[in-house]
Amino acid sequence: MTIDGTEEIPGPAGLPFLGNIGAVDSEIPLKSFLSLADQYGPIFKLNLGSRTLIMCSSWELVNELCDEKRFAKTVNSALKEVRNGVHDGLFTAKMSEPNWGIAHRVLMPAFGPMSIAGMFDEMHDIAGQLAMKWARHGPSVPIMVTGDFTRLTLDTLALCAMGYRFNSFYHDEMHPFIEAMGSFLAESGSRSRRPPFTSILYRDITHKYFENIDLMRKTADEVLKARKEASSDRKDLLAAMLNGTDPKTGQHMTDSSITDNLITFLIAGHETTSGLLSFAFYQLLKHPETYRKAQDEVDEVVGTGPIKIEHLSQLKYIAAVLRETLRQSPTIAGFSVAPIQDEIIGGRYKVPKDQPVTLLLAKAQTDMAVYGDDADQFKPERMLDENFDMLNKNFPNCWKPFGNGVRACIGRPFAWQEALLVMAMLLQNFNFRMDNPNYQLHIKQTLTVKPKDFYMRCSLRHGLT
Ligand code: HEM
Repeated sequence: MTIDGTEEIPGPAGLPFLGNIGAVDSEIPLKSFLSLADQYGPIFKLNLGSRTLIMCSSWELVNELCDEKRFAKTVNSALKEVRNGVHDGLFTAKMSEPNWGIAHRVLMPAFGPMSIAGMFDEMHDIAGQLAMKWARHGPSVPIMVTGDFTRLTLDTLALCAMGYRFNSFYHDEMHPFIEAMGSFLAESGSRSRRPPFTSILYRDITHKYFENIDLMRKTADEVLKARKEASSDRKDLLAAMLNGTDPKTGQHMTDSSITDNLITFLIAGHETTSGLLSFAFYQLLKHPETYRKAQDEVDEVVGTGPIKIEHLSQLKYIAAVLRETLRQSPTIAGFSVAPIQDEIIGGRYKVPKDQPVTLLLAKAQTDMAVYGDDADQFKPERMLDENFDMLNKNFPNCWKPFGNGVRACIGRPFAWQEALLVMAMLLQNFNFRMDNPNYQLHIKQTLTVKPKDFYMRCSLRHGLT
Protein backbone atom coordinates (compact mmCIF):
# COMPACT_ATOMS: atom_id res chain seq x y z
CA MET A 1 0.00 0.00 0.00
CA THR A 2 1.38 3.47 -0.88
CA ILE A 3 1.00 6.69 1.08
CA ASP A 4 -2.09 7.77 -0.89
CA GLY A 5 -3.86 4.46 -0.25
CA THR A 6 -3.27 3.04 -3.75
CA GLU A 7 -1.49 -0.26 -4.34
CA GLU A 8 1.37 -1.35 -6.59
CA ILE A 9 0.17 -3.40 -9.53
CA PRO A 10 1.57 -6.91 -8.95
CA GLY A 11 3.95 -8.56 -11.38
CA PRO A 12 7.15 -10.57 -11.59
CA ALA A 13 10.49 -9.02 -10.61
CA GLY A 14 12.56 -8.16 -13.70
CA LEU A 15 16.22 -8.16 -14.76
CA PRO A 16 18.22 -4.96 -15.30
CA PHE A 17 17.72 -3.59 -18.89
CA LEU A 18 15.66 -6.57 -20.01
CA GLY A 19 12.95 -6.25 -17.39
CA ASN A 20 10.42 -9.06 -17.87
CA ILE A 21 11.15 -9.82 -21.54
CA GLY A 22 12.17 -13.34 -20.51
CA ALA A 23 8.76 -13.89 -18.90
CA VAL A 24 6.98 -13.75 -22.27
CA ASP A 25 7.07 -16.72 -24.64
CA SER A 26 8.26 -15.39 -27.99
CA GLU A 27 6.09 -17.76 -30.08
CA ILE A 28 2.91 -17.79 -28.05
CA PRO A 29 2.87 -14.70 -25.80
CA LEU A 30 -0.76 -15.46 -24.93
CA LYS A 31 0.32 -18.63 -23.11
CA SER A 32 2.57 -16.56 -20.83
CA PHE A 33 -0.09 -13.91 -20.24
CA LEU A 34 -2.64 -16.54 -19.20
CA SER A 35 -0.28 -18.18 -16.77
CA LEU A 36 0.83 -14.79 -15.36
CA ALA A 37 -2.86 -13.98 -14.83
CA ASP A 38 -3.23 -17.27 -12.92
CA GLN A 39 -0.20 -16.41 -10.85
CA TYR A 40 -0.72 -12.67 -10.16
CA GLY A 41 -4.48 -12.32 -10.40
CA PRO A 42 -6.81 -10.06 -12.39
CA ILE A 43 -4.27 -7.27 -12.93
CA PHE A 44 -0.53 -7.56 -13.49
CA LYS A 45 2.29 -5.47 -14.84
CA LEU A 46 5.31 -6.35 -16.99
CA ASN A 47 8.30 -4.22 -17.79
CA LEU A 48 9.33 -4.94 -21.39
CA GLY A 49 12.39 -2.71 -21.55
CA SER A 50 11.10 0.25 -23.50
CA ARG A 51 7.49 -0.04 -22.34
CA THR A 52 5.24 -1.20 -19.53
CA LEU A 53 2.46 -3.66 -20.16
CA ILE A 54 -0.58 -3.79 -17.87
CA MET A 55 -3.03 -6.66 -18.35
CA CYS A 56 -6.50 -7.00 -16.88
CA SER A 57 -8.39 -10.25 -16.92
CA SER A 58 -11.47 -10.11 -14.69
CA TRP A 59 -14.94 -9.15 -15.87
CA GLU A 60 -15.08 -6.31 -13.32
CA LEU A 61 -11.91 -4.64 -14.58
CA VAL A 62 -12.81 -5.20 -18.24
CA ASN A 63 -16.20 -3.65 -17.59
CA GLU A 64 -14.55 -0.63 -16.00
CA LEU A 65 -12.08 -0.27 -18.88
CA CYS A 66 -14.92 -0.30 -21.42
CA ASP A 67 -16.10 3.08 -20.08
CA GLU A 68 -15.35 5.31 -23.07
CA LYS A 69 -15.63 8.46 -20.96
CA ARG A 70 -12.49 7.39 -19.09
CA PHE A 71 -10.58 5.15 -21.53
CA ALA A 72 -9.91 5.22 -25.27
CA LYS A 73 -8.39 2.77 -27.74
CA THR A 74 -4.62 2.95 -27.97
CA VAL A 75 -2.44 1.59 -30.74
CA ASN A 76 0.49 -0.26 -29.21
CA SER A 77 2.57 -3.46 -29.55
CA ALA A 78 2.10 -5.22 -32.88
CA LEU A 79 -0.63 -2.80 -34.03
CA LYS A 80 1.89 0.04 -33.85
CA GLU A 81 4.10 -1.92 -36.26
CA VAL A 82 1.18 -2.69 -38.58
CA ARG A 83 0.91 1.09 -39.02
CA ASN A 84 4.11 0.87 -41.09
CA GLY A 85 1.95 -0.73 -43.79
CA VAL A 86 -1.51 0.79 -43.37
CA HIS A 87 -0.89 4.06 -41.50
CA ASP A 88 -4.08 5.61 -40.15
CA GLY A 89 -6.40 2.99 -41.68
CA LEU A 90 -9.46 2.22 -39.55
CA PHE A 91 -7.89 -0.46 -37.36
CA THR A 92 -4.58 1.24 -36.64
CA ALA A 93 -5.63 4.90 -36.52
CA LYS A 94 -5.05 6.82 -33.32
CA MET A 95 -8.13 8.43 -31.82
CA SER A 96 -6.82 11.89 -32.72
CA GLU A 97 -6.36 11.17 -36.46
CA PRO A 98 -9.04 12.76 -38.68
CA ASN A 99 -8.86 10.00 -41.32
CA TRP A 100 -10.39 7.56 -38.82
CA GLY A 101 -13.56 9.66 -38.45
CA ILE A 102 -13.89 10.24 -42.19
CA ALA A 103 -13.43 6.56 -43.07
CA HIS A 104 -15.69 5.44 -40.21
CA ARG A 105 -18.57 7.68 -41.24
CA VAL A 106 -18.17 6.93 -44.96
CA LEU A 107 -18.01 3.17 -44.36
CA MET A 108 -20.62 2.58 -41.65
CA PRO A 109 -23.52 2.37 -44.14
CA ALA A 110 -21.51 -0.06 -46.30
CA PHE A 111 -21.43 -2.46 -43.32
CA GLY A 112 -25.16 -2.02 -42.64
CA PRO A 113 -27.61 -4.95 -42.89
CA MET A 114 -28.76 -4.24 -46.48
CA SER A 115 -25.23 -3.90 -47.85
CA ILE A 116 -24.02 -7.05 -46.12
CA ALA A 117 -27.08 -8.97 -47.30
CA GLY A 118 -26.18 -7.81 -50.82
CA MET A 119 -22.85 -9.65 -50.47
CA PHE A 120 -24.53 -13.01 -49.82
CA ASP A 121 -24.20 -14.36 -53.37
CA GLU A 122 -20.47 -13.64 -53.55
CA MET A 123 -19.93 -15.16 -50.10
CA HIS A 124 -21.87 -18.20 -51.31
CA ASP A 125 -19.71 -18.41 -54.43
CA ILE A 126 -16.47 -18.71 -52.42
CA ALA A 127 -17.98 -21.03 -49.78
CA GLY A 128 -19.09 -23.22 -52.69
CA GLN A 129 -15.49 -23.36 -53.97
CA LEU A 130 -14.35 -24.63 -50.57
CA ALA A 131 -17.11 -27.26 -50.47
CA MET A 132 -16.21 -28.37 -53.99
CA LYS A 133 -12.55 -28.78 -53.05
CA TRP A 134 -13.39 -30.89 -50.00
CA ALA A 135 -15.90 -32.97 -51.94
CA ARG A 136 -13.27 -33.75 -54.57
CA HIS A 137 -10.66 -34.66 -51.97
CA GLY A 138 -13.04 -37.09 -50.29
CA PRO A 139 -12.48 -38.85 -46.96
CA SER A 140 -8.97 -40.14 -47.71
CA VAL A 141 -7.29 -36.71 -47.68
CA PRO A 142 -6.73 -34.85 -44.39
CA ILE A 143 -7.95 -31.25 -44.46
CA MET A 144 -5.58 -28.58 -43.15
CA VAL A 145 -8.41 -26.72 -41.47
CA THR A 146 -6.94 -23.26 -40.78
CA GLY A 147 -5.21 -23.20 -44.20
CA ASP A 148 -8.42 -23.76 -46.14
CA PHE A 149 -10.48 -21.43 -43.94
CA THR A 150 -7.87 -18.73 -44.49
CA ARG A 151 -8.13 -19.22 -48.27
CA LEU A 152 -11.89 -18.92 -47.87
CA THR A 153 -11.91 -15.76 -45.76
CA LEU A 154 -9.31 -13.94 -47.87
CA ASP A 155 -11.01 -14.77 -51.14
CA THR A 156 -14.39 -13.76 -49.69
CA LEU A 157 -13.09 -10.42 -48.46
CA ALA A 158 -11.26 -9.56 -51.66
CA LEU A 159 -14.30 -10.42 -53.76
CA CYS A 160 -16.91 -8.71 -51.59
CA ALA A 161 -14.81 -5.67 -50.71
CA MET A 162 -13.29 -4.88 -54.11
CA GLY A 163 -14.43 -7.38 -56.73
CA TYR A 164 -10.99 -9.03 -56.85
CA ARG A 165 -10.48 -12.79 -57.17
CA PHE A 166 -7.41 -14.32 -55.52
CA ASN A 167 -8.67 -17.75 -56.69
CA SER A 168 -6.83 -19.39 -53.79
CA PHE A 169 -8.69 -22.69 -54.24
CA TYR A 170 -7.32 -23.04 -57.77
CA HIS A 171 -3.60 -22.72 -56.95
CA ASP A 172 -1.25 -24.54 -54.63
CA GLU A 173 0.86 -21.42 -54.22
CA MET A 174 -0.73 -18.48 -52.44
CA HIS A 175 -1.17 -15.22 -54.40
CA PRO A 176 1.94 -12.96 -53.98
CA PHE A 177 -0.18 -10.37 -52.13
CA ILE A 178 -1.21 -13.03 -49.60
CA GLU A 179 2.39 -14.22 -49.16
CA ALA A 180 3.51 -10.62 -48.61
CA MET A 181 0.72 -9.90 -46.15
CA GLY A 182 1.41 -13.07 -44.15
CA SER A 183 5.12 -12.21 -43.79
CA PHE A 184 4.32 -8.56 -43.05
CA LEU A 185 1.97 -9.53 -40.21
CA ALA A 186 4.32 -12.11 -38.73
CA GLU A 187 7.22 -9.65 -38.82
CA SER A 188 5.07 -6.84 -37.35
CA GLY A 189 4.48 -9.16 -34.37
CA SER A 190 8.19 -10.04 -34.09
CA ARG A 191 9.29 -6.40 -34.30
CA SER A 192 7.01 -5.51 -31.42
CA ARG A 193 8.62 -8.16 -29.21
CA ARG A 194 12.28 -7.32 -29.95
CA PRO A 195 14.19 -4.86 -27.78
CA PRO A 196 14.77 -1.71 -29.93
CA PHE A 197 18.57 -1.86 -29.60
CA THR A 198 18.65 -5.18 -31.51
CA SER A 199 17.27 -3.75 -34.79
CA ILE A 200 20.76 -3.56 -36.35
CA LEU A 201 20.83 -7.39 -36.27
CA TYR A 202 17.74 -7.65 -38.45
CA ARG A 203 18.72 -5.56 -41.48
CA ASP A 204 17.81 -8.14 -44.17
CA ILE A 205 14.54 -8.99 -42.48
CA THR A 206 13.70 -5.29 -42.26
CA HIS A 207 14.48 -4.84 -45.96
CA LYS A 208 12.13 -7.72 -46.86
CA TYR A 209 9.49 -6.26 -44.50
CA PHE A 210 9.40 -2.97 -46.41
CA GLU A 211 9.45 -4.81 -49.75
CA ASN A 212 6.34 -6.69 -48.64
CA ILE A 213 4.65 -3.43 -47.71
CA ASP A 214 5.49 -2.08 -51.18
CA LEU A 215 4.02 -5.13 -52.88
CA MET A 216 0.79 -4.96 -50.88
CA ARG A 217 0.31 -1.27 -51.53
CA LYS A 218 1.10 -1.56 -55.24
CA THR A 219 -1.43 -4.38 -55.63
CA ALA A 220 -4.12 -2.41 -53.79
CA ASP A 221 -3.28 0.75 -55.79
CA GLU A 222 -3.72 -1.22 -59.03
CA VAL A 223 -7.14 -2.49 -57.94
CA LEU A 224 -8.11 1.08 -57.10
CA LYS A 225 -6.79 2.46 -60.42
CA ALA A 226 -8.54 -0.26 -62.44
CA ARG A 227 -11.84 0.53 -60.72
CA LYS A 228 -11.49 4.23 -61.37
CA GLU A 229 -10.76 3.63 -65.07
CA ALA A 230 -13.53 1.16 -65.82
CA SER A 231 -17.16 1.96 -65.24
CA SER A 232 -18.59 -0.45 -62.68
CA ASP A 233 -21.96 -0.76 -61.01
CA ARG A 234 -20.63 -2.86 -58.13
CA LYS A 235 -21.86 -1.77 -54.70
CA ASP A 236 -18.96 -2.98 -52.61
CA LEU A 237 -16.70 -1.44 -49.97
CA LEU A 238 -14.41 0.02 -52.61
CA ALA A 239 -17.36 1.75 -54.31
CA ALA A 240 -18.48 3.12 -50.95
CA MET A 241 -15.01 4.56 -50.35
CA LEU A 242 -14.73 6.06 -53.83
CA ASN A 243 -18.18 7.59 -53.96
CA GLY A 244 -18.96 8.31 -50.31
CA THR A 245 -18.92 11.73 -48.71
CA ASP A 246 -18.34 12.19 -45.00
CA PRO A 247 -21.63 13.65 -43.70
CA LYS A 248 -19.79 15.60 -41.00
CA THR A 249 -16.96 17.30 -42.92
CA GLY A 250 -18.15 16.92 -46.52
CA GLN A 251 -14.75 15.38 -47.31
CA HIS A 252 -14.00 12.36 -49.49
CA MET A 253 -11.51 9.66 -48.65
CA THR A 254 -8.11 10.23 -50.29
CA ASP A 255 -6.61 7.54 -52.57
CA SER A 256 -3.98 6.69 -49.99
CA SER A 257 -6.61 6.33 -47.25
CA ILE A 258 -8.59 4.02 -49.57
CA THR A 259 -5.46 1.90 -50.10
CA ASP A 260 -4.82 1.83 -46.34
CA ASN A 261 -8.35 0.60 -45.73
CA LEU A 262 -8.49 -1.95 -48.56
CA ILE A 263 -5.44 -3.63 -47.04
CA THR A 264 -6.85 -3.13 -43.53
CA PHE A 265 -10.01 -5.08 -44.41
CA LEU A 266 -7.97 -7.98 -45.72
CA ILE A 267 -5.76 -7.97 -42.63
CA ALA A 268 -8.53 -7.45 -40.06
CA GLY A 269 -11.06 -9.76 -41.60
CA HIS A 270 -9.26 -12.89 -42.72
CA GLU A 271 -7.45 -14.55 -39.80
CA THR A 272 -10.09 -13.48 -37.30
CA THR A 273 -12.91 -15.18 -39.20
CA SER A 274 -10.82 -18.15 -40.29
CA GLY A 275 -9.75 -18.70 -36.67
CA LEU A 276 -13.38 -18.52 -35.55
CA LEU A 277 -14.42 -21.19 -38.08
CA SER A 278 -11.43 -23.41 -37.19
CA PHE A 279 -12.08 -23.25 -33.44
CA ALA A 280 -15.81 -23.82 -34.04
CA PHE A 281 -15.12 -27.04 -35.97
CA TYR A 282 -12.64 -28.14 -33.32
CA GLN A 283 -15.33 -27.68 -30.65
CA LEU A 284 -17.98 -29.50 -32.70
CA LEU A 285 -15.69 -32.48 -33.16
CA LYS A 286 -14.78 -32.51 -29.45
CA HIS A 287 -18.48 -32.35 -28.47
CA PRO A 288 -20.49 -34.87 -30.50
CA GLU A 289 -23.80 -33.88 -28.90
CA THR A 290 -23.27 -30.24 -29.87
CA TYR A 291 -22.26 -31.35 -33.36
CA ARG A 292 -25.46 -33.38 -33.71
CA LYS A 293 -27.64 -30.47 -32.58
CA ALA A 294 -25.92 -28.08 -35.00
CA GLN A 295 -26.31 -30.47 -37.93
CA ASP A 296 -29.94 -31.22 -37.01
CA GLU A 297 -30.65 -27.49 -37.00
CA VAL A 298 -29.24 -27.09 -40.52
CA ASP A 299 -31.26 -30.08 -41.74
CA GLU A 300 -34.41 -28.63 -40.22
CA VAL A 301 -33.95 -25.02 -41.36
CA VAL A 302 -32.28 -25.51 -44.74
CA GLY A 303 -33.04 -29.12 -45.69
CA THR A 304 -31.17 -30.36 -48.74
CA GLY A 305 -31.85 -27.41 -51.04
CA PRO A 306 -29.68 -24.33 -51.61
CA ILE A 307 -28.99 -22.10 -48.60
CA LYS A 308 -30.72 -18.74 -48.83
CA ILE A 309 -30.03 -15.59 -46.88
CA GLU A 310 -33.33 -15.86 -44.97
CA HIS A 311 -32.18 -19.19 -43.49
CA LEU A 312 -29.27 -17.58 -41.64
CA SER A 313 -31.24 -15.72 -38.97
CA GLN A 314 -33.05 -18.98 -38.16
CA LEU A 315 -29.82 -20.78 -37.27
CA LYS A 316 -30.09 -19.94 -33.56
CA TYR A 317 -28.08 -22.86 -32.26
CA ILE A 318 -25.23 -22.33 -34.71
CA ALA A 319 -25.14 -18.65 -33.73
CA ALA A 320 -24.79 -19.81 -30.11
CA VAL A 321 -21.97 -22.17 -31.12
CA LEU A 322 -20.14 -19.25 -32.76
CA ARG A 323 -20.66 -16.98 -29.74
CA GLU A 324 -19.45 -19.65 -27.33
CA THR A 325 -16.44 -20.30 -29.57
CA LEU A 326 -15.51 -16.61 -29.49
CA ARG A 327 -16.03 -16.53 -25.73
CA GLN A 328 -13.55 -19.31 -25.08
CA SER A 329 -11.24 -18.66 -28.00
CA PRO A 330 -11.46 -14.97 -28.90
CA THR A 331 -9.39 -14.85 -32.08
CA ILE A 332 -8.20 -11.39 -31.08
CA ALA A 333 -7.18 -12.42 -27.59
CA GLY A 334 -7.07 -8.90 -26.18
CA PHE A 335 -7.26 -5.24 -27.12
CA SER A 336 -5.80 -2.13 -25.50
CA VAL A 337 -7.11 1.13 -24.14
CA ALA A 338 -5.43 3.98 -22.24
CA PRO A 339 -6.78 6.40 -19.62
CA ILE A 340 -7.80 9.78 -21.03
CA GLN A 341 -6.54 11.29 -17.74
CA ASP A 342 -4.60 9.83 -14.80
CA GLU A 343 -6.85 7.13 -13.35
CA ILE A 344 -7.31 4.76 -10.48
CA ILE A 345 -8.69 1.42 -11.61
CA GLY A 346 -10.18 -1.36 -9.56
CA GLY A 347 -10.50 1.27 -6.79
CA ARG A 348 -6.78 1.00 -5.93
CA TYR A 349 -4.35 0.87 -8.85
CA LYS A 350 -2.96 4.11 -10.28
CA VAL A 351 -2.65 4.17 -14.07
CA PRO A 352 -1.20 7.32 -15.65
CA LYS A 353 -2.80 9.03 -18.68
CA ASP A 354 -1.88 7.30 -21.98
CA GLN A 355 -0.49 4.15 -20.31
CA PRO A 356 -1.80 1.21 -22.38
CA VAL A 357 -3.87 -1.35 -20.49
CA THR A 358 -4.76 -4.59 -22.26
CA LEU A 359 -8.14 -6.26 -21.76
CA LEU A 360 -7.15 -9.91 -21.81
CA LEU A 361 -10.36 -11.37 -23.24
CA ALA A 362 -9.03 -14.91 -23.43
CA LYS A 363 -9.06 -14.92 -19.62
CA ALA A 364 -11.80 -12.39 -18.75
CA GLN A 365 -14.39 -14.25 -20.84
CA THR A 366 -13.97 -17.31 -18.64
CA ASP A 367 -14.51 -15.39 -15.39
CA MET A 368 -16.47 -17.68 -13.05
CA ALA A 369 -18.16 -14.63 -11.48
CA VAL A 370 -20.04 -14.30 -14.79
CA TYR A 371 -20.11 -17.75 -16.33
CA GLY A 372 -20.23 -19.93 -13.20
CA ASP A 373 -18.23 -22.99 -12.19
CA ASP A 374 -18.41 -24.45 -15.69
CA ALA A 375 -16.91 -21.31 -17.28
CA ASP A 376 -14.12 -23.42 -18.78
CA GLN A 377 -16.53 -25.77 -20.51
CA PHE A 378 -17.91 -25.38 -24.01
CA LYS A 379 -21.68 -24.94 -23.62
CA PRO A 380 -23.40 -23.15 -26.52
CA GLU A 381 -26.73 -23.32 -24.65
CA ARG A 382 -25.63 -20.40 -22.45
CA MET A 383 -25.29 -18.33 -25.62
CA LEU A 384 -28.78 -18.92 -27.06
CA ASP A 385 -30.45 -15.54 -27.73
CA GLU A 386 -32.38 -15.23 -24.45
CA ASN A 387 -29.50 -16.36 -22.25
CA PHE A 388 -27.05 -14.19 -24.17
CA ASP A 389 -29.26 -11.11 -23.70
CA MET A 390 -29.60 -11.86 -19.99
CA LEU A 391 -25.83 -12.31 -19.56
CA ASN A 392 -25.13 -8.98 -21.23
CA LYS A 393 -27.78 -7.29 -19.12
CA ASN A 394 -26.50 -8.69 -15.82
CA PHE A 395 -22.82 -8.44 -16.68
CA PRO A 396 -22.28 -5.63 -19.19
CA ASN A 397 -19.21 -6.08 -21.37
CA CYS A 398 -18.78 -9.73 -20.39
CA TRP A 399 -18.50 -10.80 -24.08
CA LYS A 400 -16.24 -8.49 -26.09
CA PRO A 401 -14.60 -10.49 -28.92
CA PHE A 402 -15.48 -7.70 -31.36
CA GLY A 403 -13.96 -4.93 -29.23
CA ASN A 404 -15.60 -1.92 -27.64
CA GLY A 405 -17.58 1.23 -28.37
CA VAL A 406 -16.76 3.44 -31.34
CA ARG A 407 -13.63 1.40 -32.06
CA ALA A 408 -15.46 -1.93 -32.05
CA CYS A 409 -15.27 -4.13 -35.13
CA ILE A 410 -16.92 -2.51 -38.14
CA GLY A 411 -16.73 -5.88 -39.94
CA ARG A 412 -18.81 -7.82 -37.38
CA PRO A 413 -21.94 -8.19 -39.56
CA PHE A 414 -19.76 -9.30 -42.47
CA ALA A 415 -17.97 -11.91 -40.35
CA TRP A 416 -21.23 -13.14 -38.82
CA GLN A 417 -23.00 -13.65 -42.14
CA GLU A 418 -19.98 -15.39 -43.61
CA ALA A 419 -19.47 -17.67 -40.59
CA LEU A 420 -23.16 -18.70 -40.42
CA LEU A 421 -23.24 -19.43 -44.14
CA VAL A 422 -20.05 -21.49 -44.10
CA MET A 423 -21.07 -23.50 -41.02
CA ALA A 424 -24.45 -24.22 -42.57
CA MET A 425 -23.08 -25.17 -45.99
CA LEU A 426 -20.44 -27.50 -44.57
CA LEU A 427 -22.72 -29.22 -42.04
CA GLN A 428 -25.41 -29.60 -44.67
CA ASN A 429 -23.10 -31.34 -47.12
CA PHE A 430 -20.50 -33.22 -45.11
CA ASN A 431 -19.88 -35.43 -42.13
CA PHE A 432 -16.65 -34.57 -40.34
CA ARG A 433 -14.26 -36.35 -38.04
CA MET A 434 -10.87 -35.55 -36.49
CA ASP A 435 -7.95 -36.78 -38.54
CA ASN A 436 -6.26 -37.74 -35.27
CA PRO A 437 -8.89 -38.59 -32.63
CA ASN A 438 -6.30 -37.87 -29.91
CA TYR A 439 -5.58 -34.36 -31.18
CA GLN A 440 -4.99 -31.93 -28.29
CA LEU A 441 -5.62 -28.27 -28.97
CA HIS A 442 -2.48 -26.19 -29.44
CA ILE A 443 -2.58 -22.62 -30.63
CA LYS A 444 -0.59 -20.64 -33.12
CA GLN A 445 -0.35 -16.92 -32.49
CA THR A 446 0.28 -14.12 -34.95
CA LEU A 447 -1.85 -10.99 -34.53
CA THR A 448 -4.64 -13.46 -33.92
CA VAL A 449 -4.82 -16.96 -32.50
CA LYS A 450 -5.89 -20.13 -34.28
CA PRO A 451 -5.63 -23.89 -33.71
CA LYS A 452 -2.25 -25.34 -34.64
CA ASP A 453 -1.86 -28.53 -36.71
CA PHE A 454 -5.58 -29.21 -36.64
CA TYR A 455 -6.65 -31.63 -39.39
CA MET A 456 -10.03 -33.19 -40.08
CA ARG A 457 -11.54 -35.46 -42.69
CA CYS A 458 -14.88 -35.23 -44.37
CA SER A 459 -17.25 -37.35 -46.41
CA LEU A 460 -20.21 -36.18 -48.46
CA ARG A 461 -23.65 -36.86 -46.93
CA HIS A 462 -25.34 -36.73 -50.34
CA GLY A 463 -24.65 -34.97 -53.66
CA LEU A 464 -23.18 -31.47 -53.20
CA THR A 465 -25.94 -28.86 -52.82
C1 HEM B 1 -11.80 -3.94 -35.16
C2 HEM B 1 -12.45 -8.57 -33.88
C3 HEM B 1 -13.85 -9.62 -38.43
C4 HEM B 1 -12.60 -5.16 -39.82
C5 HEM B 1 -11.87 -5.10 -34.44
C6 HEM B 1 -11.59 -5.19 -33.02
C7 HEM B 1 -11.76 -6.49 -32.66
C8 HEM B 1 -12.16 -7.22 -33.84
C9 HEM B 1 -11.55 -7.10 -31.27
C10 HEM B 1 -11.15 -4.05 -32.10
C11 HEM B 1 -9.66 -4.00 -31.99
C12 HEM B 1 -9.12 -2.94 -31.06
O1 HEM B 1 -9.85 -2.36 -30.26
O2 HEM B 1 -7.90 -2.69 -31.13
C13 HEM B 1 -12.89 -9.24 -35.00
C14 HEM B 1 -13.29 -10.63 -35.01
C15 HEM B 1 -13.70 -10.92 -36.29
C16 HEM B 1 -13.54 -9.72 -37.08
C17 HEM B 1 -13.25 -11.56 -33.80
C18 HEM B 1 -14.22 -12.21 -36.88
C19 HEM B 1 -14.68 -13.22 -36.18
C20 HEM B 1 -13.66 -8.49 -39.21
C21 HEM B 1 -13.95 -8.39 -40.62
C22 HEM B 1 -13.56 -7.13 -41.01
C23 HEM B 1 -13.06 -6.45 -39.84
C24 HEM B 1 -14.55 -9.50 -41.48
C25 HEM B 1 -13.65 -6.48 -42.37
C26 HEM B 1 -14.54 -6.75 -43.26
C27 HEM B 1 -12.28 -4.46 -38.67
C28 HEM B 1 -11.88 -3.06 -38.68
C29 HEM B 1 -11.66 -2.70 -37.34
C30 HEM B 1 -11.93 -3.89 -36.54
C31 HEM B 1 -11.72 -2.18 -39.91
C32 HEM B 1 -11.26 -1.34 -36.81
C33 HEM B 1 -12.52 -0.55 -36.50
C34 HEM B 1 -12.23 0.84 -35.97
O3 HEM B 1 -11.36 1.00 -35.11
O4 HEM B 1 -12.90 1.75 -36.42
N1 HEM B 1 -12.22 -6.34 -34.91
N2 HEM B 1 -13.05 -8.74 -36.27
N3 HEM B 1 -13.13 -7.30 -38.76
N4 HEM B 1 -12.30 -4.92 -37.38
FE1 HEM B 1 -12.77 -6.79 -36.82
